Amino acid sequence: MSESDKEKQKKYYPEPELAKNARVKSMDDYNNIWKQSIDNPDKFWDKEAKMVDWFKPYSKVWQSPKGDGDDFVGKWFVDGKLNVCYNCLDRWVEKGYGDQKSLIWMGEDDTLKEYTFASLKDKVCKAANALKELGVKKGDRVCIWLPMVDDLAISMLACARIGAIHSIVFGGFSAESVKDRIDDSDCKILITADEVMRAGRARPMKDNLKGIIETCPSIEKVAVVKVTNGDVYEYEKDVNYTALIEKQSTECPCEEMDAEDPLFILYTSGTTGKPKGVVHTQGGYLVYCMSTNLYVWDYSCLVDLKGGKPSERDVWYCTADIGWITGHSQIVYGPLALGAISVMYEGVPTWPHKGRFWEIVQKLKVTHFYTAPTAIRALMKYGEKEVNKWDISSLKMLGTVGEVCNWPEWIWYWKVIGKGSTGEKPVGKPIVDSYWQTETGSYMMVNFGAITPMKPGSCTFPFFGINPKLLDEDGNEVKNTNTQAYFAYDMPWPGLMRTVWGNHERFVSTYLSKFPGHYYTGDYAQIDDEGYYFILGRADDVIKVSGHRLGSAEVESAINSHPKVAESAVCPYPHSIKGSTIFAFVTLMEGVDPSEDLKKEIQNHTRSVAGPTVKPEVIMFADALPKTRSGKIMRRILKAIATQSEIGNTMTLANPDVVQHLVEERAKLGKIEF
Ligand code: WT7
Repeated sequence: MSESDKEKQKKYYPEPELAKNARVKSMDDYNNIWKQSIDNPDKFWDKEAKMVDWFKPYSKVWQSPKGDGDDFVGKWFVDGKLNVCYNCLDRWVEKGYGDQKSLIWMGEDDTLKEYTFASLKDKVCKAANALKELGVKKGDRVCIWLPMVDDLAISMLACARIGAIHSIVFGGFSAESVKDRIDDSDCKILITADEVMRAGRARPMKDNLKGIIETCPSIEKVAVVKVTNGDVYEYEKDVNYTALIEKQSTECPCEEMDAEDPLFILYTSGTTGKPKGVVHTQGGYLVYCMSTNLYVWDYSCLVDLKGGKPSERDVWYCTADIGWITGHSQIVYGPLALGAISVMYEGVPTWPHKGRFWEIVQKLKVTHFYTAPTAIRALMKYGEKEVNKWDISSLKMLGTVGEVCNWPEWIWYWKVIGKGSTGEKPVGKPIVDSYWQTETGSYMMVNFGAITPMKPGSCTFPFFGINPKLLDEDGNEVKNTNTQAYFAYDMPWPGLMRTVWGNHERFVSTYLSKFPGHYYTGDYAQIDDEGYYFILGRADDVIKVSGHRLGSAEVESAINSHPKVAESAVCPYPHSIKGSTIFAFVTLMEGVDPSEDLKKEIQNHTRSVAGPTVKPEVIMFADALPKTRSGKIMRRILKAIATQSEIGNTMTLANPDVVQHLVEERAKLGKIEF
């Protein structure tokens, strides 16, 4: 074994002082609590749910499911009534913490807005009253398409306050994707911005909706946040949301919601068809977000000050965009309901300079820092010097999410950011590797920062109440170590999505049917001989670009909408920063001549239809695509052709002869490296 292989397979230990004051103090404690949580989940979740202030207590922790083809999820905290916004804000004000910091928002231009629980509550009440004035009622859907301005967090809390269901669309998606999502859940209001600030420049946002928003019949008003006050396209249903908020009162009662009422919809990509509207609930989601964040990160917060003063709480900074589930659960709902200090930053990590994250850590004395492997890879490129300009000694714990954190970025994070040692028994600031999904609400497989010995690239062990299973094609448990298997869970937990908006059948068929009695993740995983879990990637046609999830069908339909394209198929291709990028095989219409210019045209077209994250970075023209006799494109073979690796069996193809031709065409493109 080479020296570096030995390094990779070592265990890395959290600094021992962290365990002393931790909520879960040792791996023995973790194992005991985990076992109890599996043997008696109702008892465990009943205890966790005490962290929530209920307007009316629940009569039952869990009620098993009935019918609907859904034999898994059931109902959580039955008959319980609560309000999520009340739990994030009002209760802290009522308990005397009104003047304590809650959300700290920092702009690209260094503007700081340090909200206290009281000032955030006032602002949220005004925004909620503004929504009411626009006719929003309990149960209505509100689409939010905003950049990372504070109004984004405020708008979502305002919806939660009045019982409206928010559906946030990532700011980097296209106006067409906003339309699809608005139509799918009949949103009544769209909240958007005039323009967005990105790397020092104002860029269009509202203008992109021209001609598109007019075709959304459900929309009654478009509430415009004035970010730049730029001169932008106005639609007859536009309302100046910023001005409307200002004139509202700071009094707005919290709507009493049922534990099982939807809190939000968040669209995510799957293998086929349109994105799915993942539905999360009020009660179960909130309890799960709080419980996971509390034990995993162990930061001091109002729920448990760990002996400190409220003003000396830890400072939590999650760098995700609120347009993704990570931002929902790990910037807004989880931390605020726990009474934590949560940092929200407007911009990108590399502007105005390459050490921007570390500058924020210094400036705000961040103690807990949570980012994505793709961001670490990007920052690694600039070297240690960009880090060493800043004082990051306030950091206690680090973390990652979104994809596997591979060895090069893991060890850089450990050494350069965490200042961890590398000797016989390496010790340092923990790197929390959190594995979860939009669907699961919060962490599923994750190390407890203060206590779990780490292995680079492993998300280690399950959270409490989570029982992972490795299965073969027939649903039998795979007992062998180091063997790739399908990854599933065999019991429900409160934070699991409840349905796909408007299509319960799709929920059942996507997640619950492949292995009856299990929730199936769509990922492959394996376990090593010490029981550490390693995620091996998607078993389906979902592509992860910079940790963002893209469905192959969505990308292909954007490419296919170009008038000169007859058909296309996409697959992931290795990229040193993004993890994967998109490699597209494109068949042109009869009589169209292939050219480099046409490739650019197709790339630009795809970006404009699907958004800037959805660029097919490589296009290869193909006369035909390898298909099975039933007409299904064999992506496994395309991936092998793209990466110039072993093709494997082509027996099941209807047209095996196209493969050789594509291999030759691919060879002509030469070596492609990103
Ligand atoms: C998919 C879910 C959860 C918020 C961000 C992504 C992959 C996620 C890890 C990790 C290995 C990971 C899986 C999963 N994934 N975290 N720590 N290690 N893979 O949410 O867009 O719903 O994507 O991301 O493939 O299924 P998402």
